[in-house]
Amino acid sequence: MGSSQQTVRADERLVAIVTGGNRGLGLETCRQLAVLGYQVVLTSRSLKPGEAAAAAFRESGLRVVAHQLDVTDPLSVERLIADVDGTYDRIDVLVNNAAVALRPADDRGTLQVDIETVRQTLEVNTLAPLRLCQAVVPVMRRVGYGRVVNVSSGMGQLDDMESGWPAYRISKTALSAVTRLVAREVSGANILVNAVCPGWVRTDMGGSSATRSVEEGAAGIVWAATLPDRGPSGSFFRDGRPIAW
Ligand SMILES: NC(=O)c1ccc[n+]([C@@H]2O[C@H](COP(=O)([O-])OP(=O)(O)OC[C@H]3O[C@@H](n4cnc5c(N)ncnc54)[C@H](OP(=O)(O)O)[C@@H]3O)[C@@H](O)[C@H]2O)c1
Repeated sequence: MGSSQQTVRADERLVAIVTGGNRGLGLETCRQLAVLGYQVVLTSRSLKPGEAAAAAFRESGLRVVAHQLDVTDPLSVERLIADVDGTYDRIDVLVNNAAVALRPADDRGTLQVDIETVRQTLEVNTLAPLRLCQAVVPVMRRVGYGRVVNVSSGMGQLDDMESGWPAYRISKTALSAVTRLVAREVSGANILVNAVCPGWVRTDMGGSSATRSVEEGAAGIVWAATLPDRGPSGSFFRDGRPIAW
């Protein structure tokens, strides 16, 4: 992985937004970005856990503020972008991390899954990242810099499509399309848009048998969030290495 980048302190003006920052990989991504010097906006569906997490980070000297964000609520997205842009006059990094894997509703076959489960999963895992890209890219274009990381999953790789968890798999495969389409539309604007699979990580979603720590999983996300100018865009990575879609 591009570890040399991660030891370099970021320009302290850089502002990063992370969705689903109150727990799991989102929380650790906030911590790692803040350690690099970013001003981090830790967003969470409920403000209270987000505020508690941000306050704990600030006690360790990290620059992290909380903001409410339900990624499925267009007004909530609009408020977030207006507040962050209004406060800092820039948004440099967007990590689309928030997602659901609906258990037990999605723990069945593709021919049995309830379409409503697929719809709910697509809302959070695919349409919300698209909505956030639509809201953030104009700010990034104005600033002339941007890094978007769509946190995806090997379970969405067409190259390795198995069975089970159909709604989750479909949502992440569609997120790949969002990633490549947005990357292409912003090419030449110094806005890099990539998808990252964090591996199988010990979180509420990944479960306790998962093979990786949140620190390891988040490192791959942070790597893509801190790519240098002229870095790759429209690619899918695991541990800083390209993988098949
Ligand atoms: N863990 C793994 O093994 C693994 C593997 C591959 C990919 N991933 C991906 O990594 C990312 C993070 O996963 P994780 O393991 O950290 O999951 P997690 O522990 O279940 O956390 C999910 C986060 O998403 C938030 N969220 C869900 N719906 C939301 C909404 N409508 N608005 C705002 N936030 C919402 C949750 O907020 P609440 O606390 O409010 O529910 C929580 O903060 C996801 O994109 C996931 O698909 C994980």
